[in-house]
Amino acid sequence: MKLAARAGRIVPSPTLSITATAKAMAAQGIDVIDFASGEPDFDTPEPIKQAAEAAIRSGFTKYTASSGIDELKSAIVDKLQAEQGLRYEKAQILVSCGAKHTLYNLAQALVEAGDEVVIPAPFWVSYRDQVLLNDATPVLLETRETEGYAISRAALEACVTPKTKAIIVNSPGNPTGATYDLATLEGIAEVALRRDLLIISDEIYEKILYDGARHISIATLGADVAARTVVVNGVSKAYAMTGWRIGYAAGPKDVITAMADIQSQSTSNPTSISQKAAVAALRGGDAFPQQMVKEFDRRRRTMVERLNKLPGVSCRMPSGAFYAFPNVTGLLNRRHATGSITSPTDLAAYLLKEAQVAVVPGEPFGSPDHIRLSYATSMEAIARGLDRMENALSKLT
Ligand SMILES: Cc1ncc(COP(=O)(O)O)c(C=O)c1O
Repeated sequence: MKLAARAGRIVPSPTLSITATAKAMAAQGIDVIDFASGEPDFDTPEPIKQAAEAAIRSGFTKYTASSGIDELKSAIVDKLQAEQGLRYEKAQILVSCGAKHTLYNLAQALVEAGDEVVIPAPFWVSYRDQVLLNDATPVLLETRETEGYAISRAALEACVTPKTKAIIVNSPGNPTGATYDLATLEGIAEVALRRDLLIISDEIYEKILYDGARHISIATLGADVAARTVVVNGVSKAYAMTGWRIGYAAGPKDVITAMADIQSQSTSNPTSISQKAAVAALRGGDAFPQQMVKEFDRRRRTMVERLNKLPGVSCRMPSGAFYAFPNVTGLLNRRHATGSITSPTDLAAYLLKEAQVAVVPGEPFGSPDHIRLSYATSMEAIARGLDRMENALSKLT
């Protein structure tokens, strides 16, 4: 069958496929340590599950309004007002099947052949492929580890052409764990205003911050900035609800309406039961995310400290999200019994085979120098996984 060209333009999500390989190995009885999954290992809090149960018992199991139920849109409007001081009407909110779906709807509504989208690199894997799936061109804005992955105004400006439609902002970021400070966000906003760009602000890790870091939504930098920003968020990471598939967008009415129309012709509504659960999550306060982040913080320190002790590896301390992103250039061109390691992909394959440790190589994130490890797993797994990595790396010559 001759498939559409767009199907050949993209690759399946590498994080999902490595996670699937690790799970398949575990199903065969192999003791794999999974540092690849991008999801909290915590269980979804009880009150959220109870809200879902109540939805099922009361027969709230039918189609809902395609763009999401009013009750959830109100909870999102209230959350954005209370936490960010942002004011939206319900018509400016769209609920989708996870933030990934939110971003996909946005790419569909916004870009077409000839358009460009600026994506700071390293980047979350789906940004580039979603742009490609919609016939547009991703333009990578390289950022430096030594500069904390910050974006300079000049570097951004150099990426913008008359074809540029949007810039993606992801703070706290996956895979780097970096957060943007106010000056960086002001620089991006200034360029976006002057060059007439939409800002896509993916804030899915907003509650997962360390060392007193504070989340700043770029949309709060002024009414003119908010008017050209689509805030993307969801309940997956903050409330350990990755499987429930609820994400949302808040932004200019015309963009949100176009996204909602596209959703109405593709997935229809997000799951009715999950929407009720998401209301409970957003109305339930921050005790759960705070407790989770406290534990992530312990794991973050342990993992980064252990990584930095590995010869050939250096790791920045991330200030947000739940990923360590060590630089492994010191391990490249080293040899093992059956070959050599010439890239992070080779290293990830070696670690999976030799140490049964699953990590994600940096290349799909736009980095040829790093691997990504999630510390959203137990302290025990972190200790055992790092012991195994140490042992496997000691065999390299
Ligand atoms: C940066 C970023 N944005 C969005 C998502 C999508 O989250 P979900 O579709 O589960 O809401 C992820 C998930 O890994 C992510 O890392």
